Amino acid sequence: MATGRRTPKGVRSSVALKIIMAVSGIVLVGFLYAHMIGNLKIFFGAESFDHYAHWLRTIGVPALPNKVALWLMRIGLIVAVVAHIVAAAILARRARKARPVRYAHRPKVQGSYAARTMRWGGVIIVLFVIWHLLDLTAGVVNPAGGDSEPSARVIDGFQPDRWWVTIFYVLAIVAVGFHLRHGLWSAFRTLGQQTARGQIIGRTVALVLSLVLVVGYLSVPFAVTLGLVD
Ligand code: HEM
Repeated sequence: MATGRRTPKGVRSSVALKIIMAVSGIVLVGFLYAHMIGNLKIFFGAESFDHYAHWLRTIGVPALPNKVALWLMRIGLIVAVVAHIVAAAILARRARKARPVRYAHRPKVQGSYAARTMRWGGVIIVLFVIWHLLDLTAGVVNPAGGDSEPSARVIDGFQPDRWWVTIFYVLAIVAVGFHLRHGLWSAFRTLGQQTARGQIIGRTVALVLSLVLVVGYLSVPFAVTLGLVD
């Protein structure tokens, strides 16, 4: 039923930005899950892991040249990351502008705590991804295995004498977990989970999806450090 009232333009574009955040976030969660499942192949042996890496490079061959599908996925991922960060920055600036005078005593409400955690968590994740690409994809930090045997870089990278690398991964993956839990929960709300029951389900799904991801990712560096895979 039409009420005759129109939604102000600023509100409409903020909703559009939240939808961009939710949709790009879902693409990134899809990547995170696919990558985590791919990483677990290390438990089936180095060969299985490298075979999977080879498959990624040859998807669509011979219809497409080597790595073209991989590069298309990489471009999609980069677009999603940029859209996610830009939309987050614009929304954060709007929220700040809506309150030009800062609170004399910042209330310890969930909203401001979550916003800060999301911002700093996001920064840690971006720094981690830069390190991670130099380390395990480009082999700049860790050249073991070359392009065809990324398993060698994983096994080399998490040896006990490189404990500081493992600690950095653990911190970053825990940051990913917190970021994901809050992000998924916000996305569920943006995409329409408004009822009390819907909110409980949304919170639980967000928690379980984040926990599974964190445990799946952490299992690899811990297993290598403890000598369970070699
Ligand atoms: C312990 C956890 C992780 C391990 C063992 C791991 C392992 C790897 C390896 C071996 C590669 C290179 C694959 C290849 O050359 O085929 C890679 C690539 C990559 N990883 Fe991870 N990763 C982990 C966590 C993460 C996390 C948490 C993120 C994101 C926040 C991430 C993002 C990426 C990206 C963007 C690439 C590049 C994919 C490409 O375009 O080829 N990784 N990872």
